[in-house]
Amino acid sequence: MQWENNLFNRIKDIQNQFSGDFGGGSPLSKCYIMAYLASSFKLKNYVEIGVYKGRSLFSVAPAFEDNNGKAYGIDPYVLDEAKEFDLEENFKNTVNSFLEGLNFEEIYINVIINRKKFKLDNVVEIIRKTSLEAADYFKNIEIDMLHIDGNHDSKHVREDINNYAPLIRDGGIIVFDDIDWESVKICYDEVKINYIILLETNNYSILMKKEKNLQNLDSAEIMSQKLKDLYLKLA
Ligand SMILES: C[S@@+](CC[C@H](N)C(=O)[O-])C[C@H]1O[C@@H](n2cnc3c(N)ncnc32)[C@H](O)[C@@H]1O
Repeated sequence: MQWENNLFNRIKDIQNQFSGDFGGGSPLSKCYIMAYLASSFKLKNYVEIGVYKGRSLFSVAPAFEDNNGKAYGIDPYVLDEAKEFDLEENFKNTVNSFLEGLNFEEIYINVIINRKKFKLDNVVEIIRKTSLEAADYFKNIEIDMLHIDGNHDSKHVREDINNYAPLIRDGGIIVFDDIDWESVKICYDEVKINYIILLETNNYSILMKKEKNLQNLDSAEIMSQKLKDLYLKLA
């Protein structure tokens, strides 16, 4: 369909301007699937916990712009917040050495520059706080899609679910990143039973907050099949 091609090409153009690195970088297929959901369900408010360089935030934001919505990105850009401890010793040292080599101030400034470059000033709002500090901001904003991709230690992932899942509207979406990390998987396994699973891949999952009755499960199945087809085609 024409709108699907247009959306895909817009996301590809933005993605091409970022290289993924050890600190993050959601792939094109994941971002397209998220944008596809936003367009199909006419979602308005997107909240991303963990922006880093903005590869996923800026890729997904145009789909929310089309719906006259907003894309909120939460990230404190502070080394001590970014460090991960729930990891096997060698991997923990590799991750934290990489993080120590980053200039978070510069990354933040580039995010603000890119927001202008991509003409997304009116759509993307950057909240330079930890997810815990930022939760209050959303007291009066109903979240349509939440992307959990901040600090991956279990304590923080649990905190993100507990603080933000109640703010998601009925029928809203949760995207869990890095469910292949043990610290994230533990939290994901604790809560996934409460949601309808639309897509579960090796490293991310997409859930819908909706009562699991027969009618809802049937209509979710149609979208789920579409997402699985997209994933197989793009991955
Ligand atoms: C894996 S990266 C995000 C990648 C990004 N979503 C993407 O796809 O390109 C994790 C980010 O989470 C941020 N972060 C760490 N602790 C956080 C917290 N408590 N609240 C929000 N963001 C946090 C880090 O600063 C880092 O930029």
